[in-house]
Amino acid sequence: MNRITDILGIKYPIIQAPMSWVTSAELVAAVSNAGGMGTLGPNAGHHTVANGPEDSAERLRTEIRKTKALTDKPFGVNYFPPAVDAGANPYGEAQLKVLMEEEVQVLVVVGEANEKDMKRLKGLGFTVVFRELHPTVMGAKKAEGAGADIIVATGFDEGGSTPDIPVGTMTVVPMIVDAVKIPVMATGGITDKRGVNAAFALGAEGVYLGTRFIASVESPAHENAKQDIVKHGTEDLVLLRTGYGGYWRATPHSAALEAHKLKDHEVDSTYSRIGNLKTAMLDGQLEEGINTVSSGIQFIQEITTCEEIINELMADYILKNIQ
Ligand SMILES: Cc1cc2nc3c(=O)[nH]c(=O)nc-3n(C[C@H](O)[C@H](O)[C@H](O)COP(=O)(O)O)c2cc1C
Repeated sequence: MNRITDILGIKYPIIQAPMSWVTSAELVAAVSNAGGMGTLGPNAGHHTVANGPEDSAERLRTEIRKTKALTDKPFGVNYFPPAVDAGANPYGEAQLKVLMEEEVQVLVVVGEANEKDMKRLKGLGFTVVFRELHPTVMGAKKAEGAGADIIVATGFDEGGSTPDIPVGTMTVVPMIVDAVKIPVMATGGITDKRGVNAAFALGAEGVYLGTRFIASVESPAHENAKQDIVKHGTEDLVLLRTGYGGYWRATPHSAALEAHKLKDHEVDSTYSRIGNLKTAMLDGQLEEGINTVSSGIQFIQEITTCEEIINELMADYILKNIQ
C-alpha cells in the first residue's frame, strides 16, 4: 500500500492511461479487476466518429455503464478541461454532465494546469489525477495548489502526442517529485519491470502506462497494430510533428514515413492523413494512418492479458509491499 493506492482505492499503483480510440470497457475492467486502475479515453469502445457533443457524451455514458457491469473496482475517465482546447468546450461540458450523473469518481485530467478548472472539478467532488501535457514545475505546483490529488509526470519517451519539450522520463519524474508534496506517477516509455522499478527509484509512487496495454489481449486495438508493436523495436520508430506542439512517435509505415520528412510548417497540410489514430490502430490500416507508441516498445515481445502484464511489471513492488 502507498499513497496512490490509498487515494484511488486500488491494490497496485498502476494506471492504464487513456488513449484515444484504443480503450474500451473490456480493457478498463480487465486492468481494474487485476488490481490497477483502468481509464476510459476519448471514443472508448467506439468504431465511428461521434456526431457532436451530445452523441459523444451519450456514448461515454454507455461505456461507463458497460464498465460498471464488468467490474466493481475503481476506474477513471479522461477529461480535457476547456482551457486546453477551447474548440472542444461543448464536448467537455456535455461530458462533465454525464460524469456527474453516472457518479464517476476519478477523473484523469490532461492539459494545461488551470486553477479555475481544477477547483471546479474538486468542488464537484472528483478525485483528480492531473497530467500536464507539456510538464513544468510551475504547472505541477499550480495543480497541487488548486487541489489535484495526484500528478503524472510525463517524459518525452511516451506514446501518443509527446510533450513539446524533449525531456526524458529519467529527468522529468524527479523534477516534479522535488516540486510537489502530493504523490507523483511516472509515465513515458515504461514497458517492463525494470522501467517500473526505475520509476520508484526516481521517487514516483506509481506508474501510468499507455503503450504496454495496447499490446494486451483485452485491448480494442486491431490485431495488426498489436503485432506491429511486437514486431518493431525502438530503432525502427520515426518522429513526426503533431501540428499543435509536440510529436508523434510512430512505427515505420507509409503515412508516418511521409509525415516524418515534413518540416514543422508543412505538417498542417497532411494533418488529416496522420491525425486520426483510428485508421491504423483500430481499423488496422497501418499504411494509411499512424500507429503511435512509446520508445519502450523494444521490450514488448508478446501480447498477454492485462492481469499478466500487471503481475509481471509490478512483481517487485508486490514482493516488497504486499507479500
Ligand atoms: C495511441 C495513444 C493515444 C493516446 N491518446 C490520449 C488521449 O486521448 N488522451 C490522453 O490524455 N492521453 C493520450 N495518450 C497518452 C497516454 O495517456 C499516456 O500519457 C502515454 O501513453 C504514456 O506513455 P507510454 O505510452 O510510454 O506508456 C495516448 C497515447 C497513445 C499511445
